[in-house]
Formats: sequence, C-alpha cells, structure tokens
Amino acid sequence: MDMSTPTERLDDSNQGDSMELLEFEGDIDPDFEIPYQGEILIISNDQSYLTHGLHKFPAKFFPELPRYLIKKYSRSGNTVLDPMCGSGTVILESMLNNRIGIGIDIDPMARLITKVKTTPIDPEVLTLAARNLIAQINTLDNTSDYHPQIPDFHYRDNWFRSFVLLELAIINESIASLLSKYQNEIMVQDLGDFFRVVLSSIIRDVSNADPHCTRTVLRKKVVKTIAPGDTYTKFSERLFRQCGSMSELFDISKTLDINDVRLPLGNAIETGLDCDSIDLAVTSPPYINAVDYPRTHQLEMYWLGLLGPSPLSHVKRKYIGTETVYKNEYDSLKTSGYETLDPILAKIYDKDPRRSFIVFKFFEDMRHQLEEIYRVLRPGRRYCITIGNNLIRGIEVRSDQILSEIATSEIGFELENSFFSKLIRHFIRIPRPERMLGEWILVLRK
Ligand SMILES: C[S@@+](CC[C@H](N)C(=O)[O-])C[C@H]1O[C@@H](n2cnc3c(N)ncnc32)[C@H](O)[C@@H]1O
Repeated sequence: MDMSTPTERLDDSNQGDSMELLEFEGDIDPDFEIPYQGEILIISNDQSYLTHGLHKFPAKFFPELPRYLIKKYSRSGNTVLDPMCGSGTVILESMLNNRIGIGIDIDPMARLITKVKTTPIDPEVLTLAARNLIAQINTLDNTSDYHPQIPDFHYRDNWFRSFVLLELAIINESIASLLSKYQNEIMVQDLGDFFRVVLSSIIRDVSNADPHCTRTVLRKKVVKTIAPGDTYTKFSERLFRQCGSMSELFDISKTLDINDVRLPLGNAIETGLDCDSIDLAVTSPPYINAVDYPRTHQLEMYWLGLLGPSPLSHVKRKYIGTETVYKNEYDSLKTSGYETLDPILAKIYDKDPRRSFIVFKFFEDMRHQLEEIYRVLRPGRRYCITIGNNLIRGIEVRSDQILSEIATSEIGFELENSFFSKLIRHFIRIPRPERMLGEWILVLRK
C-alpha cells in the first residue's frame, strides 16, 4: 500500500500557537514520527475498505489512524487490544496486519458488528445462501395467509409503519428458516450473524426516526418517504454489496499468516485478561455525555433480540460516559484531587450539579480503565487513547490533559507522545474548516 508523505501548511486552528499542520492523503508511514503536540489531518481513502463499511457506528475510527499506531507500536504476531472496540476498526486492522486482535465492548451491537467484520465467509457459500434468502423472502411475502411474528417493543408502531414491520419480520423469519436447513453449526452462526448485521444496517433507514440525528428520535417535521417493498429492495441491495466486501475480505484472509481474532466478554474496566499479556492497546472511549449507545441502537437491538429484560436505564449505567446518574449522587460537589479536573468540576457544578457529576464519573471510570490496561500491558508497551475535548455548560473540558495527568501521576504511565488529529467528516476530501473535528491521541507507555 502506498504511504503518504505529509504536506505541511500553517494551521490557523484554535489548538494553541500556530504550528505546522501535517496532511496525509491516506496511510501514514509508520516510520514517521508525529511531533509532540503536532497536528495532523488524515484524508481518508479507506472508510469502507473491505468490511469497514458494514454498519454505521458513532465516532468510528478512520482505519488509517489505528493502522499507523498498530504498525508503529507493534510487530507481526503481537496481541493488540481495543477494550472499547465499537464497530471493530482496530480489530479488523490488527487482523489485516497479522496481529492477534482482541476486542471488548459492553455493547452487544458493537460486539456483533465486530464479530461479523472480522469473520471471513467463503464467498461461494455466502452468495448461494444470500440468493436462497432472497428467494425465501419472496416466497413468504407471496404467501397470503402467512403472518410473521412481529416483536413487541415500546412505541413500536410510532417507530415503524405497519407494512415496514411486516416486511422486516418476514426478512427475520426468512433468515431463521434458511438457517434451519444448514447442518454445520459454525456456518449457521456465521451466516446468521452476517445476515442479521445486514438487516440491522437498514433498520434506521426504514424506520420513522430522523436519519440526521445520531440518537434515535422521532421528529414531527421529518416525514420520510418509505413505500411498500422498499425494505426488501434496501435489504437486497445492501446484502449483495456486503457479500462483495466479504468476498474481498475472504481473499485477503487467505494471504494472512495469522488469522486470530478474539472477542471475549467483559468490559473495559474488567477485561478478564492476564497480567502482562498485551503488546499494544488502542482505543477511543466514548465522549462525555455525547453518545448514548444503547439508545442509538435501540431499534436495531429490539429487532435482533439483543436487549435483555433489564430496563434500558440499568444497561446505560454500565457505559463509560453515561448520563444516567442518580440525584443523590450529585447533591454535593465531587472532587478528584486532580489539578486539571477539580477547577472544571467546580465551575460546571455552579451551573449544573448533575453535569458536574457526569464529568466526575467519566474520569473516575477512566481512571479504573487506565489501571486495567496498565495491568494487562507488557512492560514497555503502549496504550494509545484517542480522546476529544468537550464543551459542557460553556466550560471547556480538556480531556487530553486530564487523562494525561491521571495516567502519569497516578497509574504510572509515561506520556510518550500527544498529538492532535483533525478529522474531515462525510467523505469530503477538500478540507472545509467548519466540517473539521478533531481528537487528541495520547501515547502512554508502561
Ligand atoms: C467511540 S466508540 C468506539 C468506536 C470504535 N473506535 C470504532 O472504530 O468503531 C466507544 C465504545 O465504547 C464502548 N463502551 C462504553 N463503555 C464501555 C465499557 N464500560 N466497557 C467496554 N466498552 C464500553 C461503547 O459501547 C462504544 O462502542
């Protein structure tokens, strides 16, 4: 793959003094040292490369960034952990670069997407199964006295029109009916997971939810045009497109020396992994109170049967960055003992005690998280964390500085590097300042 050499230009961003902005078109050469406090801009060519584009996910990595970190800080055969792996960008890149990828996420949707993204399926088997699936959908759809089982969930009939509910249920039952004909259990699992992720990837489009909002919300002003049959058309298009991506992944997987992806159950604070067993950890934690993952994926999780009996609020409390906090938790100002954090907590508390506690809890959880990764990393190895800053009640929360203080003053990490990565959203190749976001990358060494 071609490596891009950076082009430099003066940056007028608000990240501090003017400094060189290093622009990379595609991959960054792993031998390149990004300067301390430097700024980079990756113009991504690869967001849908192989199975990277299988399913939308909030705050997904551009593959180029973890690819650079993996190549720079680990070797072939090493173990690479993402303890909050989301849709599995780091895990797929680890696999493609002959590392053992270990992905953990508390979110069942994230785990399912990561599993499917990193599990190659023989294209002959997959294409035949996909054709049979479409034939099965047609058969059930044309059976006039067939009544599929439509799952019941809160406000179901507000989220979906009745004909969409029927069509989604027919797809769901066709998947089950097709799989019942297979003998090989692994194949049943892998094909089933693949079909379910493809189904999941169209659910938001065919629901009445606002397509422009990350959270799942209904807005009176947003009236989508969805006609009978659209759900089938979208599913079929997406299915064959993803069969193509899977076929490319399968071909590449045959050329790899190592094909070892592990997705243990656990969470970022209790990974269940052995001490000193990991060569590199790379992650992007959630933003503080920015994305409510269970709510974002609630419709998909209802359809895939991934939501257990506990109320959504119980599930949400386990996520780092959660907004679900109890009133008695913020009846007084909480302090952390960190110089970079306590003044911010106090300022936010004056305006909004609840938000102040949410910020406190985020960094408390992240302290435990850093401790856990320190425990599982081999000495001398790195933890690369990507973190964005927030504005909460008008007060800037410099998460990069706060995490650096916690990691170095309390946990024992050394801050080896810290640089800012600007991101261009929406596949726009020409930088437009108003479209740019950015995150800090902290390289912590045990
Ligand atoms: C910003 S996303 C990661 C996106 C990922 N880098 C990608 O490319 O798709 C953050 C992830 O942290 C996960 N998360 C939040 N709390 C967690 C916890 N306690 N343990 C493990 N994962 C957690 C969320 O479910 C979410 O998938």
